[in-house]
Amino acid sequence: MLVTLSIESLTSLQYWKNSYMDGMQRSNEATLGDFLQHLATFLRAWMSDPLGVAAVSPSGRQLAGLMVRELPTTNGPIVELGAGTGVFTQAMLEAGLGREQLLVLELNPTMHSLLEQRFPGVRTLCADARKLSEIARQQAVAMGSVDAVVSGLGLLSMPRSVRLAILGQVFKLLSPTGRFIQFTYGPLSPYPQALLRRHGLSVRRVGFAWRNVPPASVFVFQREDSDAVT
Ligand SMILES: C[S@@+](CC[C@H](N)C(=O)[O-])C[C@H]1O[C@@H](n2cnc3c(N)ncnc32)[C@H](O)[C@@H]1O
Repeated sequence: MLVTLSIESLTSLQYWKNSYMDGMQRSNEATLGDFLQHLATFLRAWMSDPLGVAAVSPSGRQLAGLMVRELPTTNGPIVELGAGTGVFTQAMLEAGLGREQLLVLELNPTMHSLLEQRFPGVRTLCADARKLSEIARQQAVAMGSVDAVVSGLGLLSMPRSVRLAILGQVFKLLSPTGRFIQFTYGPLSPYPQALLRRHGLSVRRVGFAWRNVPPASVFVFQREDSDAVT
């Protein structure tokens, strides 16, 4: 039993390393050293704030692909929350988004430094998603102007009030047809259907990254009508 578990863990780790490095190769920066640097940065951040970081390793390629597949075609601004080491940032750039379109928030200073180093020309801020409205104003991103918010935040480990506050600010920022794209570990939406309906929002589960470590579901939240969440 233990042997089987160990082999499965190693296989997952191997897959994750390969899929992560495959992602980096596309941007011509793949070395085992980069992979280890990103992993070490992530682990250090997790050790200093396990609940905030809410994962022990960066997301893999399969999950990044599912997240990016949900992006609308747009030349407008896209906001990323909780970027970590930049797995989704990189996937969005590979998908053809312009560097000037992205506004990327990451709370952990060490991971933010890595993002700055990896993505010159992208607006990466060491900032708190809980202050999204204030940050958007400072960055001259108008309310109602954003076509997608892509989030890697560990919502499930946040208190309900914080989760709600983030949802409210995200939907103030999003355009009427804008999308909030969020992954979670597990099959259920981080916001219950009944709550979403009360705020005029809908949710779709659009994919499951079974190869991710740990496996993760991708959800897309959108307005059913033009009512904002308050
Ligand atoms: C589950 S990790 C995901 C990282 C990355 N998106 C990925 O998929 O590999 C969550 C990330 O959100 C960041 N984070 C947590 N709370 C945050 C907040 N309030 N504002 C901005 N970033 C936050 C953490 O530091 C961490 O990098």
